Amino acid sequence: MKRIVILTGAGISAESGLKTFRDSDGLWEGYNIEDVATPEAWARNPELVQSFYNERRKSVLDAKPNAAHLALVRLEEKYDVTIITQNIDDLHERAGSKKVVHLHGVITRSQSSIKANLTYPIEGWEIKMGDTCELGSQLRAHVVWFGEAVPMIEKAAQLCAEAELFILIGTSLAVYPAAGLMDYVPRDVTKYIIDPNIPTAINRRIVEMPYKATVGVPMLVEELLANEH
Ligand code: APR
Repeated sequence: MKRIVILTGAGISAESGLKTFRDSDGLWEGYNIEDVATPEAWARNPELVQSFYNERRKSVLDAKPNAAHLALVRLEEKYDVTIITQNIDDLHERAGSKKVVHLHGVITRSQSSIKANLTYPIEGWEIKMGDTCELGSQLRAHVVWFGEAVPMIEKAAQLCAEAELFILIGTSLAVYPAAGLMDYVPRDVTKYIIDPNIPTAINRRIVEMPYKATVGVPMLVEELLANEH
């Protein structure tokens, strides 16, 4: 089966009611990134960081996968599909996608604050101060903060290098190392970009699809399922 690699960002979850980053003028739900999404913020005020992610988790649990997430599941009928996502929501999994690589972690799991690869499922929507890992350290959201390592980046780069078809959905490609992944996709592989405001990525063999995700993704999936590519 032909290998399709899909790189998604906040734009694919926008129509599920989850805010994107760049179009909320640099604030994330009214907070500066430096105050809620860095190791320094956690050291300075762990309660604020914890409650920020508890609120985010509540809105993720209330959100539903949209027609874009669901259309990507249908691609698996005919292609070997791997989704690399920058999103910390679990909408791809809840839609039924089998292979999802979370570059920035996933908010529905917790992690030890001293050993990042010790992660746990979360009962309900909140992690409380005082909830600890098996090593006795405070639990935090299993997300990659600015300034932290992105352990999945090598695997993601390898997946992109082996892609036979590439689809970019709803990302501004503003944040590295995720933004550099597209460069690993072989030049002769066709790349589709679905985003109402196409990031000015000038690259050969790009099929620009200036649509919202719930319009563009089902449209492309129908096309890919109907014809040989
Ligand atoms: N359908 C498709 N694309 C959309 C839609 C939609 N309905 N609405 C917005 N977009 C596009 C925007 O045009 C933009 O290109 O989604 C992209 C959102 O870009 P960002 O807000 O920068 O989100 P993202 O690229 O995922 O950010 C990457 O930055 O803040 C960090 O770690 C965070 O994972 C995040 C990373």
